[in-house]
Amino acid sequence: DGIRRRDFIDIAAVSAAGVGGLAVLYPLISQMAPSKDVLAASTTEVDVSAIQPGQAIKAVFRKQPLFVRRLTPAEVQAANATPVGALRDPQTLAERTEEGHEDMLVTMGVCTHLGCVPLGAAEGEVKGEFGGYFCPCHGSHYDTAGRIRKGPAPTNLEVPEYTFTSDTTIQVG
Ligand code: FES
Repeated sequence: DGIRRRDFIDIAAVSAAGVGGLAVLYPLISQMAPSKDVLAASTTEVDVSAIQPGQAIKAVFRKQPLFVRRLTPAEVQAANATPVGALRDPQTLAERTEEGHEDMLVTMGVCTHLGCVPLGAAEGEVKGEFGGYFCPCHGSHYDTAGRIRKGPAPTNLEVPEYTFTSDTTIQVG
Protein backbone atom coordinates (compact mmCIF):
# COMPACT_ATOMS: atom_id res chain seq x y z
CA ASP A 1 0.00 0.00 0.00
CA GLY A 2 2.83 2.38 0.92
CA ILE A 3 4.56 1.78 -2.43
CA ARG A 4 1.46 2.50 -4.45
CA ARG A 5 1.03 5.83 -2.74
CA ARG A 6 4.57 6.86 -3.65
CA ASP A 7 4.03 5.98 -7.27
CA PHE A 8 1.02 8.24 -7.34
CA ILE A 9 2.93 11.14 -5.85
CA ASP A 10 5.75 10.77 -8.41
CA ILE A 11 3.33 10.73 -11.30
CA ALA A 12 1.57 13.82 -9.94
CA ALA A 13 4.92 15.64 -9.67
CA VAL A 14 5.83 14.76 -13.26
CA SER A 15 2.58 15.97 -14.73
CA ALA A 16 2.78 19.23 -12.79
CA ALA A 17 6.21 19.80 -14.32
CA GLY A 18 4.79 19.00 -17.74
CA VAL A 19 2.10 21.64 -17.39
CA GLY A 20 4.64 24.18 -16.15
CA GLY A 21 6.84 23.50 -19.15
CA LEU A 22 3.98 24.17 -21.53
CA ALA A 23 3.08 27.40 -19.78
CA VAL A 24 6.62 28.70 -20.26
CA LEU A 25 6.78 27.62 -23.88
CA TYR A 26 3.61 29.36 -24.97
CA PRO A 27 4.71 32.99 -24.47
CA LEU A 28 7.95 32.22 -26.31
CA ILE A 29 6.07 30.96 -29.34
CA SER A 30 3.63 33.84 -29.37
CA GLN A 31 6.51 36.32 -29.20
CA MET A 32 8.21 34.76 -32.20
CA ALA A 33 5.10 34.89 -34.32
CA PRO A 34 3.11 38.02 -33.52
CA SER A 35 -0.45 37.85 -34.75
CA LYS A 36 -1.56 39.84 -37.79
CA ASP A 37 -3.46 42.23 -35.52
CA VAL A 38 -0.30 43.08 -33.62
CA LEU A 39 1.65 43.62 -36.82
CA ALA A 40 -1.04 45.82 -38.31
CA ALA A 41 -1.01 48.01 -35.23
CA SER A 42 2.74 48.61 -35.27
CA THR A 43 3.53 51.62 -37.41
CA THR A 44 6.55 53.91 -37.46
CA GLU A 45 6.48 57.68 -37.91
CA VAL A 46 9.52 59.19 -39.57
CA ASP A 47 10.30 62.90 -39.74
CA VAL A 48 11.90 63.39 -43.15
CA SER A 49 12.29 67.19 -43.01
CA ALA A 50 16.00 67.11 -42.17
CA ILE A 51 16.99 64.72 -44.96
CA GLN A 52 18.86 66.65 -47.64
CA PRO A 53 18.98 65.49 -51.28
CA GLY A 54 21.59 62.74 -51.47
CA GLN A 55 21.19 61.88 -47.79
CA ALA A 56 19.44 58.99 -46.10
CA ILE A 57 18.48 58.07 -42.58
CA LYS A 58 18.17 54.70 -40.92
CA ALA A 59 15.07 54.05 -38.88
CA VAL A 60 13.51 50.92 -37.46
CA PHE A 61 10.25 49.39 -38.65
CA ARG A 62 8.90 46.26 -36.99
CA LYS A 63 12.34 45.62 -35.50
CA GLN A 64 14.05 45.75 -38.89
CA PRO A 65 16.19 48.48 -40.42
CA LEU A 66 14.40 50.96 -42.64
CA PHE A 67 16.12 53.33 -45.08
CA VAL A 68 14.57 56.66 -46.00
CA ARG A 69 16.48 58.48 -48.70
CA ARG A 70 15.92 61.76 -50.50
CA LEU A 71 17.23 61.33 -54.03
CA THR A 72 19.07 64.07 -55.88
CA PRO A 73 17.61 65.11 -59.27
CA ALA A 74 20.49 63.17 -60.89
CA GLU A 75 19.60 60.04 -58.91
CA VAL A 76 15.95 60.32 -59.95
CA GLN A 77 17.07 60.77 -63.53
CA ALA A 78 19.40 57.76 -63.35
CA ALA A 79 16.57 55.59 -62.00
CA ASN A 80 14.16 56.77 -64.71
CA ALA A 81 16.71 56.37 -67.51
CA THR A 82 17.09 52.65 -66.80
CA PRO A 83 15.08 50.45 -69.19
CA VAL A 84 12.67 48.57 -66.92
CA GLY A 85 12.67 45.51 -69.17
CA ALA A 86 16.34 44.96 -68.45
CA LEU A 87 15.78 44.70 -64.70
CA ARG A 88 15.78 41.44 -62.76
CA ASP A 89 12.78 42.65 -60.77
CA PRO A 90 11.13 45.13 -63.15
CA GLN A 91 9.69 48.15 -61.36
CA THR A 92 9.80 51.86 -62.11
CA LEU A 93 10.82 54.45 -59.55
CA ALA A 94 7.27 55.80 -59.71
CA GLU A 95 5.91 52.39 -58.73
CA ARG A 96 8.25 52.32 -55.74
CA THR A 97 7.50 55.80 -54.40
CA GLU A 98 4.45 57.85 -53.52
CA GLU A 99 2.97 60.10 -56.18
CA GLY A 100 4.38 63.61 -55.95
CA HIS A 101 7.24 62.37 -53.79
CA GLU A 102 9.29 60.48 -56.34
CA ASP A 103 12.49 61.69 -54.71
CA MET A 104 11.68 60.05 -51.36
CA LEU A 105 12.75 56.42 -51.44
CA VAL A 106 11.52 54.33 -48.52
CA THR A 107 12.83 50.76 -48.38
CA MET A 108 13.62 48.10 -45.88
CA GLY A 109 17.33 48.04 -45.10
CA VAL A 110 17.41 44.29 -45.56
CA CYS A 111 19.18 42.63 -48.47
CA THR A 112 16.78 40.30 -50.27
CA HIS A 113 19.51 37.69 -50.65
CA LEU A 114 20.14 36.53 -47.09
CA GLY A 115 19.09 39.49 -45.03
CA CYS A 116 22.25 41.50 -44.36
CA VAL A 117 21.97 45.26 -43.94
CA PRO A 118 23.26 46.92 -47.11
CA LEU A 119 25.64 49.89 -47.02
CA GLY A 120 24.85 53.26 -48.54
CA ALA A 121 22.44 54.90 -46.12
CA ALA A 122 24.98 56.40 -43.73
CA GLU A 123 27.36 59.21 -44.64
CA GLY A 124 30.53 57.94 -46.30
CA GLU A 125 29.34 54.37 -46.88
CA VAL A 126 29.91 52.84 -50.31
CA LYS A 127 26.81 52.80 -52.50
CA GLY A 128 27.86 50.18 -55.03
CA GLU A 129 28.26 50.33 -58.78
CA PHE A 130 24.76 51.68 -59.35
CA GLY A 131 24.90 54.44 -56.77
CA GLY A 132 22.18 53.12 -54.45
CA TYR A 133 23.04 50.50 -51.89
CA PHE A 134 25.69 47.81 -51.67
CA CYS A 135 25.42 44.62 -49.65
CA PRO A 136 28.90 43.58 -48.56
CA CYS A 137 27.90 40.06 -47.53
CA HIS A 138 27.91 38.59 -51.03
CA GLY A 139 28.12 41.66 -53.25
CA SER A 140 24.62 42.71 -54.25
CA HIS A 141 24.39 46.12 -55.90
CA TYR A 142 21.16 48.12 -55.77
CA ASP A 143 20.48 51.24 -57.85
CA THR A 144 19.13 54.65 -56.82
CA ALA A 145 15.61 53.23 -56.76
CA GLY A 146 16.75 50.35 -54.51
CA ARG A 147 16.41 47.86 -57.37
CA ILE A 148 18.73 44.88 -57.65
CA ARG A 149 21.17 45.34 -60.51
CA LYS A 150 24.08 42.97 -59.84
CA GLY A 151 24.89 40.19 -57.42
CA PRO A 152 22.90 37.33 -55.92
CA ALA A 153 19.87 39.14 -54.46
CA PRO A 154 16.72 37.98 -56.29
CA THR A 155 14.49 41.01 -55.79
CA ASN A 156 14.52 44.75 -55.18
CA LEU A 157 14.78 46.12 -51.65
CA GLU A 158 11.28 45.82 -50.26
CA VAL A 159 9.18 48.97 -50.15
CA PRO A 160 6.95 48.78 -47.09
CA GLU A 161 3.49 50.29 -47.07
CA TYR A 162 3.79 53.96 -46.17
CA THR A 163 2.05 57.26 -46.62
CA PHE A 164 2.88 60.92 -46.16
CA THR A 165 0.88 62.22 -43.21
CA SER A 166 2.25 65.74 -43.81
CA ASP A 167 4.87 67.30 -46.08
CA THR A 168 7.52 66.33 -43.59
CA THR A 169 6.28 63.12 -42.00
CA ILE A 170 5.71 59.64 -43.27
CA GLN A 171 3.92 56.87 -41.52
CA VAL A 172 5.21 53.42 -42.31
CA GLY A 173 2.98 50.41 -41.82
FE1 FES B 1 23.22 40.61 -49.31
FE2 FES B 1 23.97 38.07 -49.64
S1 FES B 1 22.90 38.95 -47.98
S2 FES B 1 24.33 39.76 -50.93
